[in-house]
Amino acid sequence: MNYSAKVMDHFSNPRNVGEIPDANGVGQVGNPTCGDIMKMYLKIENNVIEDVKFKTFGCGAAIATSSIATEMIKGKTVDEALKLTNKAVVEALDGLPPVKIHCSVLAEQAVKSALADYYTRQGIDPEPFVGKLEEDCHHCEGGF
Ligand code: FES
Repeated sequence: MNYSAKVMDHFSNPRNVGEIPDANGVGQVGNPTCGDIMKMYLKIENNVIEDVKFKTFGCGAAIATSSIATEMIKGKTVDEALKLTNKAVVEALDGLPPVKIHCSVLAEQAVKSALADYYTRQGIDPEPFVGKLEEDCHHCEGGF
């Protein structure tokens, strides 16, 4: 499979890996087909994402997409982070092979799931902001 230099860079040297112990938004999404799991931690202060970390147990594309997604939302407002799409993630990585596009959906969903948790913790229904979350991606075919 042909991966861009950016994908290989983020796969070999992922940014913002880990957990945030006092995160106020935590999301997890999984893909039952390939078994990959992505967990996203957000530390939000005054509506700004001050810190973000992730853990991905999954394929290389899932690691690369979650890594770049954290870079794309760090320092952004909640509203800006809500606009993150898997398309923008794929573009930022200079593309992904077609069978790996769905792995980037997992990254978008992980960010949204963490933002939904942030709203829920404040007693706010997240659905009007985040939309319906597709918890599981059924499209991936597994493997790197
Ligand atoms: Fe499962 Fe990429 S996320 S194959």
